[in-house]
Amino acid sequence: MVVSVERFQKAKLDDKAVLTFRDKSITLDVYQGTQNEVGIDITELREKTGLITIDPGYANTGSAVSDITFVDGEKGILKFRGYSIEGLAEHSTFVEVAYLILFGKLPTKDEYHEFSHLLEEHTALHTSLEHHFNGFPDGAPPMAILSAMLNATACHHPELLDTELDANNFMTASAKILSKVRTIAAMSYRRSQGFPIIHPNHQLKYCANFLHMMFSQPYREFQVDPVLERALNIFFIVHADHEQNCSASTVRMVGSSRANLFSSVAAGVCALWGPLHGGANREVINMLQSIHKEGKSAAEIIALAKDKKSTFRLMGFGHRVYKNFDPRARILKKHVDKLFEILHKSDPLLDIAIELEEQALNDDYFIERKLYPNVDFYSGILLRAIGIPLNMFTVLFAIGRMPGWMAHWKELLDHNQRINRPRQLYMGYTHRDFIPMDERD
Ligand code: COA
Repeated sequence: MVVSVERFQKAKLDDKAVLTFRDKSITLDVYQGTQNEVGIDITELREKTGLITIDPGYANTGSAVSDITFVDGEKGILKFRGYSIEGLAEHSTFVEVAYLILFGKLPTKDEYHEFSHLLEEHTALHTSLEHHFNGFPDGAPPMAILSAMLNATACHHPELLDTELDANNFMTASAKILSKVRTIAAMSYRRSQGFPIIHPNHQLKYCANFLHMMFSQPYREFQVDPVLERALNIFFIVHADHEQNCSASTVRMVGSSRANLFSSVAAGVCALWGPLHGGANREVINMLQSIHKEGKSAAEIIALAKDKKSTFRLMGFGHRVYKNFDPRARILKKHVDKLFEILHKSDPLLDIAIELEEQALNDDYFIERKLYPNVDFYSGILLRAIGIPLNMFTVLFAIGRMPGWMAHWKELLDHNQRINRPRQLYMGYTHRDFIPMDERD
């Protein structure tokens, strides 16, 4: 899957943009993507005019040309390689979606079996890697473990650290990572609980094998409920990619220095950890739990979220791109309802979440700022229903996002993208004379 320069040229419009500053003007090329979004090419701006653009947070910056994922935040559309997220969540499995994102097409039966076989083959960790877990203190954050272990895994595959991986080696490397993150995640949970490590069962499919490694005991095999297995598939599918978000951009930033695939995705894990990104799924549950415990009303919470003197935000609400609704939140909410119906379960946190959503969607503050529930608002409730402990939530997000990160890394290299190196507007001192230490105030 290569978006060639030639294809990029095809996107060039006859229309031009003209930027005038003082007595100088520059004519800039304009490109149009396949979904009609239009971008002005400023790659020669500084060279020709000495000017740079200022865009903290990159909200208006197209940092890449990509054909992996399309998001229309105004209309609430999300597509992977042209397939809508609703259709994939309805009909597909995570492994199939991972294949689609990584290799650009839905797999044939043979391709699916070949990829699934690779995933089974690479599930286990090298025994020396298992010893690393002994070095982490009790209570070590599982996101730190995951990132560290991805780099440790790289040490065992020097042949895959090249950035010029051919198609076979990329398939092997991506299958190894996708398979092993699940083993690493389950091991970190087992260690945190003081439980013995459960080795993979090659008879089980991707999600079922993960649940087995998480919850089986040496004396009792965990019986994987197909309903929960499906729920986990859906959770992973909706998280599989989301174009140039904070963690994918981090992977691209690191990969642009020609760092290897393992280290680049390890950096993605670190970016995802933050509460404004992947860490939000935990924060939503923490928020709902404290509302439940303290008996606060939805109205009080909404008032606090609106109070500019407070730093509190309604977690799981708002999105940099979605200014209508997040289609992933809808899919997850629908599936949570279905899951609880089938399992005859209820969760007081779900009732609180529904009430908060209702109030927020009718409140001028949220309406004016176009703040809607995002993917994290209902994902935690789904994970709780599956039995995933709270401190593993963001790790589960990372497993789901792995295909996207790896596809971005590959695409960046296929496009031979230059090293990422933004500019800045310097606002510091212009000159200071050095003062010896004993003369300083
Ligand atoms: N609760 C209350 N107010 C919120 C809010 C929330 N969850 N999200 C945004 N706002 C408000 C901001 O205070 C700001 O108000 P102002 O214009 O009066 O200053 C306005 O909406 C714009 O927010 P901003 O932080 O500039 O948007 P952003 O695009 O930079 O940030 C998020 C997007 C996702 C980081 C932000 O909405 C947020 O923090 N949400 C909660 C965390 C979360 O759920 N993250 C998961 C994302 S998938």
